[in-house]
Amino acid sequence: MKIGVVGAGNMGGLHVSLFKNRTDVEFVGVTDIDLDRCNKFSEIHGGKAYKNVQEMIQTGGAEIVFVTIPNTKHKQVILDGLREGAVVFGEKPFVTSIADADEIMTELAGKQNRLYNGFNRRFAPVYAKAKELVQQGFQVRSANIIMNDGDMTSPPWVTNTALTGGFLYDTTIHMFDMVRFLVGEIAEVRCIAQQCHYPLQDNFSFIFTTTSGQSIVMSSNGHASWAYPSERIQLWGDHATIVTEELDNVMHCGSNKSTLEITDVKNLDRNMKWGYAQMHEDFLGAIAANQPFSITPEDAYKSVLITESCYISAANGGKAIQL
Ligand SMILES: NC(=O)c1ccc[n+]([C@@H]2O[C@H](COP(=O)([O-])OP(=O)(O)OC[C@H]3O[C@@H](n4cnc5c(N)ncnc54)[C@H](O)[C@@H]3O)[C@@H](O)[C@H]2O)c1
Repeated sequence: MKIGVVGAGNMGGLHVSLFKNRTDVEFVGVTDIDLDRCNKFSEIHGGKAYKNVQEMIQTGGAEIVFVTIPNTKHKQVILDGLREGAVVFGEKPFVTSIADADEIMTELAGKQNRLYNGFNRRFAPVYAKAKELVQQGFQVRSANIIMNDGDMTSPPWVTNTALTGGFLYDTTIHMFDMVRFLVGEIAEVRCIAQQCHYPLQDNFSFIFTTTSGQSIVMSSNGHASWAYPSERIQLWGDHATIVTEELDNVMHCGSNKSTLEITDVKNLDRNMKWGYAQMHEDFLGAIAANQPFSITPEDAYKSVLITESCYISAANGGKAIQL
């Protein structure tokens, strides 16, 4: 599999370091609007520096393109990659508006295995364990979730909505996907938002209802301290609980009163703990084995729909928005 990367930054480097471990992968190179970064990246990681994604595919022969550039720039590069016939791995968020998502869905025209969205948390051991418990019969009645950022000054572009699309697109979207993954399809959102400490809305409260009637309370802000946990999911069942803390541990208390199980992975290698390594296996393994992708364009689309609906609800004083 010949792979190219668009975006010679942090995530581009992380992805190359992971797929270069595979024997069935050839890294063809990188493209970036910043030529210096592009050249330095290819010196460090190998491969060539290309002018743009078209050249990387046509001349470099890239069959798979990893898109690791700022959020609001994803759409054009995803479209360019798809139009040149490549399979596209898009970092989260998929895109930063439903209008952009619609354009890509039209381009895909229902074709499978052309687009994968990097929701790494689905593969993080704590969330994989929670999912396993749900699949084994833990029936989620309600949930309480937090997803915070300790400090939105670093990296410096985090508060630049023109690049990120906003805090929900940059950070909270991970948890919107987790709600779908662990609890169920969201049918209705209500959201209240405030601007507290940064020049954008940075303080959010949500109530979600799923298509099965489960209710979820969630909050997400960009001005939490660095005291852990900044990310936590509590699922309540029939006298039963699942609680995750960071990506470090998950506690399951079963309804038979005798089950108290704690899975602690805090000392795991970071790429495993955050699910990046397993996500690579899932994505590239599916291509190698010609199997359907586990994360579909519909998953990507729904995450954007939830995010945009939350912003619409917030702009309307917390009005319920049906999805
Ligand atoms: N899944 C995760 O855990 C996770 C974590 C961090 C970031 N991300 C996502 O990864 C993406 C990249 O984040 P990062 O931290 O690597 O950013 P970064 O700033 O380190 O790198 C981005 C690179 O993209 C380049 N670039 C900007 N616009 C471009 C364009 N139009 N064409 C080509 N290159 C362009 C920049 O010059 C820069 O080198 C973002 O979408 C972000 O939300 C995901």
